This record gives sequence, structure tokens and C-alpha cells, in this order.
Amino acid sequence: MSQRKPCNAATYRKAVVDLCVEQKSRKVVEIGIYTGELSKLLLAIKTIEKLWLIDRWSAYAHYSQELMDRNYDTVCKMFKGDSRVEILRASSTTVDLPDESIDFVTIDGDHEEPAVREDIIWWREKLRPGGMMTGDNYEMSGVAAAVDALAPDRKLAAKGRVWWTLKS
Ligand SMILES: C[S@@+](CC[C@H](N)C(=O)[O-])C[C@H]1O[C@@H](n2cnc3c(N)ncnc32)[C@H](O)[C@@H]1O
Repeated sequence: MSQRKPCNAATYRKAVVDLCVEQKSRKVVEIGIYTGELSKLLLAIKTIEKLWLIDRWSAYAHYSQELMDRNYDTVCKMFKGDSRVEILRASSTTVDLPDESIDFVTIDGDHEEPAVREDIIWWREKLRPGGMMTGDNYEMSGVAAAVDALAPDRKLAAKGRVWWTLKS
């Protein structure tokens, strides 16, 4: 998969947080949590009433199952007792929240084109009209191909790393 030069992870996370703040989002879904670095920043946003954290935490690429189990435990401990947070260990397109119930969804799971397409199609249904969808790694060719096909009006932030679109 070809790649252009991305900005760093801190810049990506700040761009997503800024978009979420601008939208005054209350119900938020984050897909692809890993160790919860973005999740921590999202939870500092005052308007957020509910944050669903979705990750399958299963081995992939050079990441072992042991590491992913540890990451899951870290995230569970980090947000224990925070009633705004619901942690779902699942594949992103098996999580069935009510249609048009979400204000903001940010996608950073599987970056292969078919998987990004599935995420966009699945989660667009869950967004309310006017809700925002964002995602990481537009610099990856598989992500860009899926986004351009399904959200041709997409805008970019964070030096072209973050993509976003509003549901019409
Ligand atoms: C790049 S990491 C996410 C990093 C995180 N967004 C951050 O800012 O630190 C990608 C994560 O997506 C998860 N993932 C990949 N495909 C997935 C899928 N289909 N459903 C749920 N999670 C998935 C992986 O387990 C991994 O933890």
C-alpha cells in the first residue's frame, strides 16, 4: 500500500478533537482504540455525554494477541468508573447502535480499502443528519480510495492525514 508523508499522531489527535469540539458533539463513537490515547483527549470535551470505544483488540500485523490483550486491560482500567464510556471489544461493523443516533464518529481501525468502505457505509447509517464522520490516515492509498469513492465531498485536516465529511 503506497503512502504519502503523514503528520505526527499528536497532530492527528488534536485535529479530531478540534472537529469534535466544533460540532458540539454529545454522542460520539471512536473506532480503533489501541491504548486509548485519542479516547483520553475526547473525554476531556465537556459536551460529550456518551463515548463508545470500539476495538477488536486481536492480533494483527506484528502486534501479538498478548500485546492486544494488555492494551484492552489498560483501556478498561483507564476508564473504569466513568459512566460516559462504553468499551466494546468487537469488530466495528458488528456494533449495532440505533440509526441516526450518533453526532460524531471517528474511524481508525482496519485501513484496507474494503474495510474502510464497510466502516463508512455502516457508520454513516448511525450518524444523525448533520453529524460528522472523520478518519485517520487519508495518506494511505486504501483509505483515500474508500473515502473518495463514498464521500467525494470529504475535507482534509492535519496536513492531509485526517479526512472528514458531514452527513447530509
Ligand atoms: C492505529 S490503531 C488506533 C490508534 C488510536 N486511534 C490512537 O489514536 O491511538 C488501530 C486499532 O484498530 C483496531 N482495529 C482494526 N480493525 C478493526 C476492526 N475491524 N474493528 C475494530 N477494531 C479494529 C486494532 O485492534 C487497533 O487497536
